Amino acid sequence: MKVAVLGYGTVGKGVHDLLIDAPGFEAGPVLEKEERPDLPFAVTDIDLILIDPTVDAVIEAIGGIDPAYTFGKKVLESGKHLVTSNKMLVAAKGPELASLAEQNGVAFLFSAACGGAIPYLSNLQTAVNSGEEIVRLQGILNGTTNYILDRMQTDCVEFADALADAQKLGYAEADPSADLSGMDSIRKIMLACAVTYNELPVDGMDIEGITSFTREDAEHIKNLGYVCRLKTKAKLVENTLRAYVEPTLCPLGSIESSIRLNGNMASYTGNSCGMISLIGEGAGRYTTASSVLRDLEQIRRGKKIMIRPDCRRVTANNEDSMHRYYLRAPEHTVDDLLLTVYESGKITRGVTDKISVSFMHGFVNELRSQGYDVFFAAVERAH
Ligand code: HSE
Repeated sequence: MKVAVLGYGTVGKGVHDLLIDAPGFEAGPVLEKEERPDLPFAVTDIDLILIDPTVDAVIEAIGGIDPAYTFGKKVLESGKHLVTSNKMLVAAKGPELASLAEQNGVAFLFSAACGGAIPYLSNLQTAVNSGEEIVRLQGILNGTTNYILDRMQTDCVEFADALADAQKLGYAEADPSADLSGMDSIRKIMLACAVTYNELPVDGMDIEGITSFTREDAEHIKNLGYVCRLKTKAKLVENTLRAYVEPTLCPLGSIESSIRLNGNMASYTGNSCGMISLIGEGAGRYTTASSVLRDLEQIRRGKKIMIRPDCRRVTANNEDSMHRYYLRAPEHTVDDLLLTVYESGKITRGVTDKISVSFMHGFVNELRSQGYDVFFAAVERAH
């Protein structure tokens, strides 16, 4: 199978490199924006790839929606398989691309868009196709934020320094605010929902990232016996999809606390299989590229799509998801919510009773709109 690659950034170069040695695959041309005399296999015109009858499959590794979407459509219309690691593209246009793939009798796969090297989506799809009823999806789905949280909590590194290292290591998105704000994680759970429930949540998700987390928070949380991880969760309850991402305090000694650096943990719970957790590297050049190569192998075996063209776009609602929350806020701003107070004075720290995810996110957003600096995290029990 001859494979062309669109883009030669972190993932594109990784895929092209792996293709050179992968048995049964041939590394084809690579699309670049500018002429690259140093890369004899680079072209700047996508039509050269589309009209090349020897190219069987194309990897989209440009990122973003445009021109990735336009190029992706052209690839499928030209009768070539399309594989992407681009969660933004799939979250926005997945059902349309699946429909085009079906119409043209080719494949559209995107395992690498969720969990880096971890075969989460493909595993979920197999479980669903085998009749497993999935009752919960959850995980640590972003390598950049896990790396930052881990370095801050283990090595006492400042947020900005840990972020700079994550960028150097090729974990972060071109715009790292997508990682830090939780958007990247929520896009990944959107894809997992689409694969699992044939429902793509497009609004109503509650999204909190890690930008409010400080080293003082890390210290206090550690003394309570927890570590902070960014956890993403979704489930379908009585036709209502719940989906959210938020910092989460996990007990020291829990599996989550052992997920270090750019690690991810992607879990699902099924009625028959119970909870299954897949652990591996969630970001990085060859980790993500390895997932693309596995999709190509699946195409060789005849696999065509991961989501259905009739996947419904729905609104998530987290009013009935309840947790206790850890809060750090300026004095007197959160007193009514706290069941246990750890610290009072200019800064209040404490834990709430169980309250709904949507209430908590809305409450904190309101405080922030008044200029207050607040950190909050769900408090999780040991499994
Ligand atoms: N920026 C992403 C992450 C890359 O850090 O997880 C892999 O999806």
